[in-house]
Amino acid sequence: MIYAANFKMNHTRASTKAYLEALQEALAGKNADDRVIVFPPATAYDHYEGDFTLGAQNAYPAKEGAYTGEIGTAQLEEFGIRTILIGHSERRQLLGESQSFVAEKFAYFKENGFEILYCIGEPLHIRQQGDEAVMTYLLSQFEGIDTSYEKLIVAYEPIWAIGTGRSATVEEIATTHEGLKKTIQKPLLYGGSVKPENIKEITSIRGVDGVLIGSAALDAKNFATMILG
Ligand code: PGA
Repeated sequence: MIYAANFKMNHTRASTKAYLEALQEALAGKNADDRVIVFPPATAYDHYEGDFTLGAQNAYPAKEGAYTGEIGTAQLEEFGIRTILIGHSERRQLLGESQSFVAEKFAYFKENGFEILYCIGEPLHIRQQGDEAVMTYLLSQFEGIDTSYEKLIVAYEPIWAIGTGRSATVEEIATTHEGLKKTIQKPLLYGGSVKPENIKEITSIRGVDGVLIGSAALDAKNFATMILG
């Protein structure tokens, strides 16, 4: 299983350090096959050692240059960061990232050999139209994306389940993952209100290769509990 924690705009440099220390201590009991990835805010990047991978929540598709407010691969390389989240619904919706820009980012980070955690997910009005509409919508989010990329991990995160406390049902997750796996044979995570109360149920669904967790992973102990089961 892959357990990924997306801090979003939470935690500081100091609290990330304390978090990762606590996490590392707890991870001593971790199953050797399980992988842990943590995506802190960019101001918290550092050379952390531990049984986890440090990833970037976002970066601009360039090494460096005149892109005010952005960071590129030069800044990621300083900390040895080789994993990146692309296509998260908050960036698509709140930051206005179009499918073509998301695809441009994907191509750039692929060219640079990064592991890419690529997020897709439908809004509520599409989910209400049924499974077929959901699948058409989700597959459209692979436009311009090389789904055969060897370092690709996909995360299915229904937008209506993110940060709402209401995760998708076991049936919705199972059907969607099964449908996606027909087209994309890559590790497939589920994300959206994953928490200690539902993680066992979710990780036991066939076709779920891991989870991407926001709110419930903000506390290191909580995240460790979810990893250790
Ligand atoms: P959530 O966020 O766990 O708070 O729903 C998940 C995500 O956006 O990755």
